[in-house]
Amino acid sequence: MDSVKGPAVSGQLNGAMEGRNVSHRYASGGQLVLDNVSLHVPRGEFVSLVGSSGCGKTTLLSVLCGTIEPLRGSVLVNGKDVTGVPSIGRGMVFQSDRLFPWRTALRNVTFPLELRGESSKVARKKAVDVLKLVGLGQHVDSYPSQLSGGMRQRVNVARALVVEPDFLLMDEPFASLDAQTREVMQVELLRILSSSSAGVVFVTHQIDEALLLSDRVVVIVANPGRIAREITVPFDRPRERGIKRGREFQALSDEIWKQIEGDVMAGADVRVDEREADV
Ligand SMILES: Nc1ncnc2c1ncn2[C@@H]1O[C@H](COP(=O)(O)OP(=O)(O)O)[C@@H](O)[C@H]1O
Ligand SMILES: [Mg+2]
Repeated sequence: MDSVKGPAVSGQLNGAMEGRNVSHRYASGGQLVLDNVSLHVPRGEFVSLVGSSGCGKTTLLSVLCGTIEPLRGSVLVNGKDVTGVPSIGRGMVFQSDRLFPWRTALRNVTFPLELRGESSKVARKKAVDVLKLVGLGQHVDSYPSQLSGGMRQRVNVARALVVEPDFLLMDEPFASLDAQTREVMQVELLRILSSSSAGVVFVTHQIDEALLLSDRVVVIVANPGRIAREITVPFDRPRERGIKRGREFQALSDEIWKQIEGDVMAGADVRVDEREADV
């Protein structure tokens, strides 16, 4: 299967998540990490954030998720102010899978339902269904140590989806996977999300991953983190993996790279300086 579908109901749903004029710094007197960032994500839309390491992507996701209260600005979900208040309706998927090693795949996925007080019978049925959806129907009783990296990330995605979140916030979820597994997971993610109505904010370093998956790419530049550009991705869905080789795709990719190149190079220079200082 080489074609990828987007969210099934893109643009037709009620509700949105919005960061409004968000600024943040971590310690008083420290540098501003985010400066007046505003981002509006309707349900059903897939938005990627791209930018150099350290530009503030994880901080912005954490603010949107409610685990960080920003210095200034607010977060609204369906028009309601939820600044600094996490909720199960905004699921977060991290780079590392953060599974409980002593629980099976099934019991990792039932965990958020247990927290919510659902009966074990209902929780089990929902978890089995979503594990089937992510292609792990045969592995429900496996422990994380018995699963490959790609499979563990599938469990991780299943655990986020099982609560049927309105918004899914994904922080470089495929960064620790090898290149081939990553390609497979990109296609799988869109297949999985085609039966979800969640709005997605997806952080990635890979510009081509962002362009392949997204309805919109938001380019963040550093020091302080701010939105430099928003690009509506023009390619129809379902998308073929081959679009990556097309001229328009390459031109967009180059444009985004030019925007963040300075930040990436500056980060690389810092590391060279640090290495030199060590010797
Ligand atoms: N808990 C923290 N305390 C202090 N500074 C932090 C903390 N987390 C991140 N930072 C700093 O904030 C900046 C943005 O970090 P982050 O949001 O993780 O960037 P990204 O995800 O784009 O790599 C970086 O300079 C980082 O060092
Ligand atoms: Mg990060």
